[in-house]
Amino acid sequence: MEEKLSTVAKSFTSSPIQELSHLAQRCSAINLAEGFPDFPAPAHIKTAAVSAINSDFNQYRHVQGLCDHLAIMAKKMHGLDVNPLTDIAICCGQTEAFAAAVFAIIDRGDEVVLFDPSYETYEGCITMAGGIPVFVALDPPHWTLDPNKLLQSVTRRTKAIVLNSPQNPTGKVFSKDELETIAGVCRTWNCLAITDEVYEHITFENEKHISLASFSGMQERTIITSSLSKTFSVTGWRVGWAIAPAFIASAIRNIHVKITDSAPAPFQEAALTALRSPSEYFESLRRDYESKRDYIVKLLAGIGFKIEFKPQGSIFLFAEIPESCLLSDVEYVKELIKQAGVVAVPGRGFFHTNLSMKKISQEDFSYQERYIRFAFCKSDTTLAAAAQKLGKLSDATGRLKLHHSDT
Ligand SMILES: Cc1ncc(COP(=O)(O)O)c(C=O)c1O
Repeated sequence: MEEKLSTVAKSFTSSPIQELSHLAQRCSAINLAEGFPDFPAPAHIKTAAVSAINSDFNQYRHVQGLCDHLAIMAKKMHGLDVNPLTDIAICCGQTEAFAAAVFAIIDRGDEVVLFDPSYETYEGCITMAGGIPVFVALDPPHWTLDPNKLLQSVTRRTKAIVLNSPQNPTGKVFSKDELETIAGVCRTWNCLAITDEVYEHITFENEKHISLASFSGMQERTIITSSLSKTFSVTGWRVGWAIAPAFIASAIRNIHVKITDSAPAPFQEAALTALRSPSEYFESLRRDYESKRDYIVKLLAGIGFKIEFKPQGSIFLFAEIPESCLLSDVEYVKELIKQAGVVAVPGRGFFHTNLSMKKISQEDFSYQERYIRFAFCKSDTTLAAAAQKLGKLSDATGRLKLHHSDT
């Protein structure tokens, strides 16, 4: 009966990364792979959720106050004039907001520009909608955007450019000049932008998140997507949103109603409490993550990882495998699980361009096979336990010793 599956379903096969995650479970490895926190969500928002359930906000619901507050935040953070009655769709996380946005604007054969590396889910959504992903490689080690590469990838079939900043997996925050380049291309080619701003509140040192929609002529062509998930450590609550010109927001709302009807009612209520958190909350979020970033950078640099780019935002470190090590990213993670009891994500799952099809010798890796993504959205106890496990495998100089095992 398997032939009954749709072509789309058949195209989504399990990846080597999913297999590694089974191995990690069998080995009870410390999880630095997945991008969700293992520490509690803030008490004030949990109380709000419990209280919403007890107040019987348990049916289909649209919390208009949430849109009103998002409009206030968009003005305060980015100077955007957003009509809370017409320009916002509340969805089940950024994931649904993005999918609904794609279905709202993409027709079969439309091209959509994505940066490479990028978060994995965009490509699948775009192909499900019949769109054609076109990847523009960012240049390592700082993941710089080469304006020429972007220009060469845009055609009259380009419907939209997808931008995620701060970025998963690299931790890059696109610079003002890079954003101006992207905005210029959108204006010149009259195309739309879909932004994923889930890490908008997690930036380090002097980095500040700037929304692409705030550039001249961009609000009228940008769909901002974001969510509660990362800012409030509640990835399971599934509350997110899209902010867009009224005609697009209306299309997104129509699609959202057909797919999920509404985001979870009690968590929409709690989202309002969350977004109204005092500025100290957002400052301490940034401070805490910056100290976790510093901890993991020091730890991995100490055991030999090549870290030429320190994350400027997000909850991930994209680290290059020690030069002397002749394992690929997938092999390295496999050995990391088996020998050190720590799991992270091989970088290749985030790359789509230039992957060398055929490996001639062990040294012949393309850079897409040399990166490992570590999530540092973990408690200090988890990070210290990972440090201890990695320390046990280090040699006298402190360098991690991983070897190819046969089992
Ligand atoms: C860049 C990015 N966007 C979106 C998501 C998922 O967001 P949500 O939980 O709001 O669907 C993630 C989760 O890891 C992410 O890294």
